Amino acid sequence: MSLNKVLITGSSSGLGNHLALHFSKKGHEILLHGRNEKELIKIKNKINKNGSNAEYVVADLSNNHELELLCNKAKKENIKILINNAGITCPGLPLKELSYKNIDFMIAVNLIAPIKIINTLNKILDHVININSMVGLEAKKNRSIYASSKWGLRGFSESLKKEEILYKILDVYPTNIKTWPERENAMDINFVLNSIYDAMLKEEEELILDGRKQDV
Ligand SMILES: NC(=O)c1ccc[n+]([C@@H]2O[C@H](COP(=O)([O-])OP(=O)(O)OC[C@H]3O[C@@H](n4cnc5c(N)ncnc54)[C@H](OP(=O)(O)O)[C@@H]3O)[C@@H](O)[C@H]2O)c1
Repeated sequence: MSLNKVLITGSSSGLGNHLALHFSKKGHEILLHGRNEKELIKIKNKINKNGSNAEYVVADLSNNHELELLCNKAKKENIKILINNAGITCPGLPLKELSYKNIDFMIAVNLIAPIKIINTLNKILDHVININSMVGLEAKKNRSIYASSKWGLRGFSESLKKEEILYKILDVYPTNIKTWPERENAMDINFVLNSIYDAMLKEEEELILDGRKQDV
């Protein structure tokens, strides 16, 4: 596989930020994305300092116009690898405590945006990596909307794999990840990054990273 350009949604923090550094160290050029421009500039400078190229786009994925601008930039840059990572994590509340606004926003960012981005970029992509969650495989209390978004993403992706598509899709289902050093009872970030990269190279379709079953 050639060292193609990668779009990583939600790379201003957390897992996306780590993925951006990891892929850039492997020689890929990175198109960073998020809403927090200050954090995007920080990660862009870090990547540039390591001798790799990175640009960024500021876009709220719940806004169709901004989503379109992101996709236009991705097309212009001839992005070959798309990592659908941006996500709103679960507030851990029962459904009755969530407003329409909470529900719409989480479904828009976690489910609708990846669908629209894949659909818009489908002619140029070689690889799609969807960062799902163990909650996309297992039902959990007080996670109804987060689970809906992740189960929806899984259903979308599994169905798409049966179509005549020109790109490979890898769906990643992790338990908690140590995206910052103080986080306890979570999987080692380097283990997660290496596992995702290797699975992509091997053109695997599914990667379950269950920290409960591993000594990580
Ligand atoms: N961390 C874990 O333990 C874990 C476990 C399983 C699955 N996951 C999945 O991994 C992914 C990343 O999680 P994380 O823990 O790294 O989360 P995080 O640190 O909260 O980062 C989320 C990223 O998504 C972006 N984002 C959120 N809302 C957005 C919006 N409306 N428009 C554009 N960008 C938006 C954020 O950027 P801005 O703030 O700049 O907008 C940020 O870069 C998610 O899909 C999550 O479900 C994480």
